[in-house]
Amino acid sequence: MDSYRFLTPPIIYYGLGTLEGACDKLAKIGNRPLVVTDKIMINIGYADRVVNYLKKQKLEISLFNEVNTEPTDRYVEKGTNLFKENHCDFVIALGGGSPIDTAKAISLMVSNPGEIQDYMGLGKVKQNGPPIVAIPTTSGTGSEVTQFTIITDTKKDVKMLIGSEYLIPKIAINDPALTMTVSPSITAATGIDALTHAIEAYTSRRHQPLADNFALSSIKRISKYLRRAWANGDDEEARSEMMLAAMEAGIAFNNSSVTIVHGMSRPLGALFHISHGISNAVLLPACLEYAIMGLPERFANIAKAMGAKDSNLSDLDLAKEGLILIKKLCEDVEIPSISGLGIDKNNFTKRLDKMATDALASGSPYNTARKPSKEDIIKIYEKSF
Ligand SMILES: NC(=O)c1ccc[n+]([C@@H]2O[C@H](COP(=O)([O-])OP(=O)(O)OC[C@H]3O[C@@H](n4cnc5c(N)ncnc54)[C@H](O)[C@@H]3O)[C@@H](O)[C@H]2O)c1
Ligand SMILES: [Fe+2]
Repeated sequence: MDSYRFLTPPIIYYGLGTLEGACDKLAKIGNRPLVVTDKIMINIGYADRVVNYLKKQKLEISLFNEVNTEPTDRYVEKGTNLFKENHCDFVIALGGGSPIDTAKAISLMVSNPGEIQDYMGLGKVKQNGPPIVAIPTTSGTGSEVTQFTIITDTKKDVKMLIGSEYLIPKIAINDPALTMTVSPSITAATGIDALTHAIEAYTSRRHQPLADNFALSSIKRISKYLRRAWANGDDEEARSEMMLAAMEAGIAFNNSSVTIVHGMSRPLGALFHISHGISNAVLLPACLEYAIMGLPERFANIAKAMGAKDSNLSDLDLAKEGLILIKKLCEDVEIPSISGLGIDKNNFTKRLDKMATDALASGSPYNTARKPSKEDIIKIYEKSF
């Protein structure tokens, strides 16, 4: 067997109602947390709940609530300044992937010189930053268990992927009760994001045995529970299974990497301001159709995890059955096409070259079982329109 490195946060609290008990343990991490969140978390009362739990622990809290969806270098700069001015000693992220990624980038910039742009890519961060605690409120990105943060460079309109083991949260607190308020469309987009993480990790050239288990388990859960969570947000069992699945998928791709879908979705998201989950979801079917031929036996296992009957089919035919199940799931939770998002065809065509160049430059497409050329990438964008 080859040798591997497997990374996860040291502590993961999870399950319905785990939030309060887990927050009670945070005084061990530091005294002055910066809570990084967004306005919706304030409006629906989640920020107050967390702040009250922390106050019981006599922590001195600073609040940074200016994160919006798809975080940028500007939020990171503001949050970093606030952290320093208030002499904070750790960060607590509360929200979807956007506040969690912002908190990771703040931890990075508090302890490393220069600009966030200097750290784009993998393994460039030199110093460990203040500890990160992540409390996700969506079941999608898995950012609470990953070494990645995705921050938009507002000057270049590029979504920068930054990866470092120093960005892995010290504590993840996954309480599915916090996800009950997520709207159906965000449930769908984040759920398909998680499915994409699991499929890409399992079929990546860098797949590895421990991560494979997490990936297949995640695919099983998502194919069984995403429709229920989408149709009925109050379904505690479906919400709990989806939160577990998103975390499993995060652990999987944290170690095995993402591939062509994420490589292609970042430029689409950056240029047309489409949310992360949707920009993956609209590309998923056409990307998988392309990738299947590179690794039919692994795609066949995905089909089995999704419930395809394996009777006497060849791996390739079974893999194609799986693709039909994936497309059906996307349709059932009303994932649109790119044109369905209201994007103008001419504008899209004009941007194809830049999108394909940026996708390949991100490196992720090269982890795909089938190595894509720039022309292949352009064709997949066109097919997904
Ligand atoms: N770091 C990683 O490993 C990783 C992986 C995938 C994606 N990402 C990044 O994560 C970001 C996307 O995260 P996301 O998909 O979770 O979306 P998000 O954090 O942008 O949230 C989407 C919207 O849902 C709202 N919301 C969140 N939780 C809610 C709740 N419980 N109830 C009601 N509304 C709620 C938010 O306020 C926001 O308006 C992108 O920037 C993406 O690039 C990071
Ligand atoms: Fe993702």
